[in-house]
Amino acid sequence: MTPAADRQWFPEAGEWTSGETEVLARAVIRAPSVHNTQPWRMELLGTDVLLYDRADPAPGGQQADERDRAISCGAAVANLGVAVSVLGRSPEVALLPDPDRPELVARVCAGRRRVPSDVDLHRYSAISRRRSYRRPFGRRALSEHQVLDLERVPAGTGVRVRAVLDRGELSAVADLLEYAGQTIRHDDRYRRELALWAIQHGRGYDGNAGTARENGVPAMPWAGLVHTMAVLPDRVLLARRLERETFLLFVTPGDTRRDQLLAGRAMEETWLAAVDAGLVASVMTRLVHLGEVRAGLAEQLGLTGCPQLVMRVGHPSGVVPSPRPALSEVVLPGHLAHRMR
Ligand SMILES: Cc1cc2nc3c(=O)[nH]c(=O)nc-3n(C[C@H](O)[C@H](O)[C@H](O)COP(=O)(O)O)c2cc1C
Repeated sequence: MTPAADRQWFPEAGEWTSGETEVLARAVIRAPSVHNTQPWRMELLGTDVLLYDRADPAPGGQQADERDRAISCGAAVANLGVAVSVLGRSPEVALLPDPDRPELVARVCAGRRRVPSDVDLHRYSAISRRRSYRRPFGRRALSEHQVLDLERVPAGTGVRVRAVLDRGELSAVADLLEYAGQTIRHDDRYRRELALWAIQHGRGYDGNAGTARENGVPAMPWAGLVHTMAVLPDRVLLARRLERETFLLFVTPGDTRRDQLLAGRAMEETWLAAVDAGLVASVMTRLVHLGEVRAGLAEQLGLTGCPQLVMRVGHPSGVVPSPRPALSEVVLPGHLAHRMR
């Protein structure tokens, strides 16, 4: 056995075992990233996990923009924190810890030993179930409590999650989305990114595998995937759709790289909480990257800060077929919290 292989089986005190390394790496690759480019690299150093922004193009030649890469890396940091927690250590996260190495986006140290909380275990279980849900949602709206719970997930991080619920605000947002859709459809770079993404994932050019259509109209720009031939819904249709969905805006105090990392981290933590509550979601950033749309959102919704991304959340439409029994069929009565049954 080579010394390197040997170390995998007999880790020195304070090092990650190979099993733990796999838990950490799997958590990172399950994080959402722009066009699934996975713009990160992970390094393990003693009990530290270092996450780097991989600025080189991903396999396939895609190069995501800096802002989207930061948001994606923030999501990976969230998953790393959850993974470290379920491994029984308290995660201590430092964002951009070394000004001389801007590519090092986070250092996650395994702090003191502790028993993972219920929330840690639930979030960890949600990591592998979370995926982008780009279809129309089921008809049932989220309850006021559910919306409030989601808004509160990143409390204390500086990121504000703001639900857009009021009719007047929804109509203003619909105007801005219509404008954004029309603008982005003429953005060559975005169309090229989209084409690569669509080919890699074997989807139709509208990126929705023919599922996100409503009355024959592609559900654009819901998926944020707009091409020159797409039939873009007008503001009236957009406003109607918005009223049936829960639309969350993620707002940061400023627009630095740290703000973008924090927004990505808050996005993933909120998404995992939504999945844990039986909900589904998808996110878009491209629309709010347009300066006019950001300014419009800030003005129309009275926001102090910078909108970084939007998340649409809802109940899945129809029953998602599952070959697995319900938890209550395999666990003796009395062992499960009510919401897990
Ligand atoms: C910064 C960022 C921007 C994204 N923008 C969009 C978008 O505009 N439209 C979309 O449908 N999905 C968007 N996504 C979702 C990714 O496409 C998705 O996470 C990725 O393809 C992996 O799929 P999964 O979320 O199902 O794991 C974005 C994700 C991130 C992190």
